[in-house]
Amino acid sequence: MKLSRKHLLGLEGVSRSEIETILNTAESFKEILERKIPKVPTLRGKTAVNLFFEPSTRTRVSFELAEKRLSADSVSISTKMSSSEKGETLVDTVRNLEAMKVDFLIVRHSSAGAAHFLASRIDVAVINAGDGCHEHPTQALLDLFTIRQKFGSFEGLKVVIVGDALHSRVARSNLWGLGAVGADITICSPPTFLAPGMENFGARIESDLDKAIQGADVVMVLRIQMERQGQHFFPSLREYAMQYGISRKRADSLKDSCLIMHPGPMNRGVEIAPDVADGVRSVILDQVTNGVAVRMAVLYLLSGGELDDAMAH
Ligand code: CP
Repeated sequence: MKLSRKHLLGLEGVSRSEIETILNTAESFKEILERKIPKVPTLRGKTAVNLFFEPSTRTRVSFELAEKRLSADSVSISTKMSSSEKGETLVDTVRNLEAMKVDFLIVRHSSAGAAHFLASRIDVAVINAGDGCHEHPTQALLDLFTIRQKFGSFEGLKVVIVGDALHSRVARSNLWGLGAVGADITICSPPTFLAPGMENFGARIESDLDKAIQGADVVMVLRIQMERQGQHFFPSLREYAMQYGISRKRADSLKDSCLIMHPGPMNRGVEIAPDVADGVRSVILDQVTNGVAVRMAVLYLLSGGELDDAMAH
């Protein structure tokens, strides 16, 4: 199976079979990462530029590692290092990168729509590494990969997304992705943290966390995005932690098989208790590990690779 798209801008409109192709390809690449020498020549001759206008640890490093593991040439630039600091427009910046014959542009930007905007103006494959409050498709794909790794499938799984859904690109991409693969989704947020129209994603909305997590298979905790809070959405961090934090007591009320996920970075002691983040149900570091294989799969498939060939590496 091939992916018949040039860019990965979001999971909106990405079909179940495309998601399965990406996850199956990532499965093959995960095996490569477990080898003594975790490197294959698959993308030799290709060049990727990681253009990050917002801070990142996980996404940026895992894209860089994915590129290196596939033998692509890789360059990373951040806002401070780029000529955007001198007033160059975003389009001029990427047109200059395009002029240097790059194949992939992996872009993180604080403005929703930045990746779509660039994809319509350059001839390079664009991968959205997070655009404002809009989407973060590779995060949701690695979340799906981690869930499938633990449960084998998504059918009928009860996934509860908890927290700051309003500002969360991770929540939006997961709503599209989990919806496409048939999971049963609940969003649990204070009413001020729900975006208008979120009920149209096909998810249940529940404001009582203790009720929402009853019988859950997966609790996906969202980070409170302190940097995007233009106004007060909740009275205090203490009150938020009491009502919407995954405490030890709440974690103990979950089914034994229930997974606790968080995209990172975490506000420990606010949306998640430290001992829950590090506890037996937590798959937070598995998510990070899986991010490399999933990003390898996305780069490979967008370069025209096929799932069957990935399995032969
Ligand atoms: N999950 C995530 O996007 O983390 P980073 O901001 O560290 O990339």
